[in-house]
Amino acid sequence: MTAFQSHPLRSPLHGSIVVPGDKSISHRALILGALGIGETTIANLLEGDDVLRTAAAIGALGAQVEQRPDGTWAVQGCGVGGLHEPTAVLDLGNSGTGVRLLMGLAATLPIVTFFGGDASLSRRPMGRVMTPLEKFGTRFVSRDGFLPVAVMGAQDPVPIEHEMTVASAQVKSAILLAGLNAPGNTTVVETVATRDHTERMLRAFGADIRIEEAGIQKRITVTGQPELTGRHVHVPADPSSAAFFVVAATLIDGSDITIERISTNPLRSGILDVLRDMGADITVSNTADLNGEPVADLRVRAAALTGMEIPAEVAPSMIDEYPILAVAAAHAKGVTVMHGLHELRVKESDRLSAIAEGLRACGIGVETTEDSLVVHGSGGNIPGNGNVATHHDHRIAMAFTILGLAAQKAVTIDDDSMIGTSFPGFARLMAGLGADLAPLSR
Ligand code: S3P
Repeated sequence: MTAFQSHPLRSPLHGSIVVPGDKSISHRALILGALGIGETTIANLLEGDDVLRTAAAIGALGAQVEQRPDGTWAVQGCGVGGLHEPTAVLDLGNSGTGVRLLMGLAATLPIVTFFGGDASLSRRPMGRVMTPLEKFGTRFVSRDGFLPVAVMGAQDPVPIEHEMTVASAQVKSAILLAGLNAPGNTTVVETVATRDHTERMLRAFGADIRIEEAGIQKRITVTGQPELTGRHVHVPADPSSAAFFVVAATLIDGSDITIERISTNPLRSGILDVLRDMGADITVSNTADLNGEPVADLRVRAAALTGMEIPAEVAPSMIDEYPILAVAAAHAKGVTVMHGLHELRVKESDRLSAIAEGLRACGIGVETTEDSLVVHGSGGNIPGNGNVATHHDHRIAMAFTILGLAAQKAVTIDDDSMIGTSFPGFARLMAGLGADLAPLSR
């Protein structure tokens, strides 16, 4: 745990950058690789701690995983239903996505799997996946729905239909993965759309997956016991990581940067729409399709932002971007009101409190309710000069690093050790754009 200072930047950000691979897609590529028959090769896998934990976990479940000298990863899959009982606890570290998706995978295998994680993950609710997975015939042992959790996979799983009670792609994905090893059709019904990387990738691996939309309702049905085939996956760059640079370039006068090959999946790009509505100058070019996922280059030039009201409906498409959006709101002119933030309470930290505390420490007026945040923008004059507590949350650390660059006085951040869970190389990339982040450990 190393504290560091982020100093105001007096020169613009310039240049072209490539941010690491998408975290959500990286986890899914490894997991579907383990379920495919034959070899899956993965280019641009995010080599952050979260994803490496998933790689180790599928190895412990029987898939062979290796990194090749050219940097790609290769997974020799065992087929749906072919994984075996791990001999040790699967420790998913800080990764909510890793642990919840793998609980789904283990739920319909005739094995017992023990899951654990770090202090932050052990405070996050697992009941949201355990309750629907029990309908397959799976049994769990835990203390009040928190890690550590033992999963007794169903011997004869039955397919289920589940109506989502929380807008969560992790829960949806856990159910779809469990459905893969149950005979017949498993259906998830969503009334709030969440990221659809699992559905897209299942289709690419050859699963029979159907999506019916009627009004706000989306019925996602997967047919169990398919033969999935190993394939090549090229992981697009992570839009959640890119968001820190999009905001940095927007706030720092004279900046003009390009971020290459970002996932522009519409269920992930809410932050770009909101920032544009606030006045950001973001242009999209070189749109392409990468294994069923849309990608593009983003050019971002500095622009003055104006506060606005951000409705709850957009929250699922930018759920990980509220820390950096709050920094943009702190710089904007006028008030920004963000609604529908209850899920932020159960992320890597209580993010709503962590954002509010951090902004107050940096001289910004803030109000919160259980699920909303009001930020009184400084019109380009964030005072800074505060001490920010990250609560072991990577996105809080990175968001307040950007705040420091755009503030009047330096900001001290208590811990940089967890940035590598999602964004190894963050400080190096920032430095490459001209930001003075010398005190950050690299
Ligand atoms: C993710 C889903 C989101 C997101 C997380 C990654 C995923 O979580 O916050 O960083 O890969 O499915 P929820 O499903 O809890 O909203």
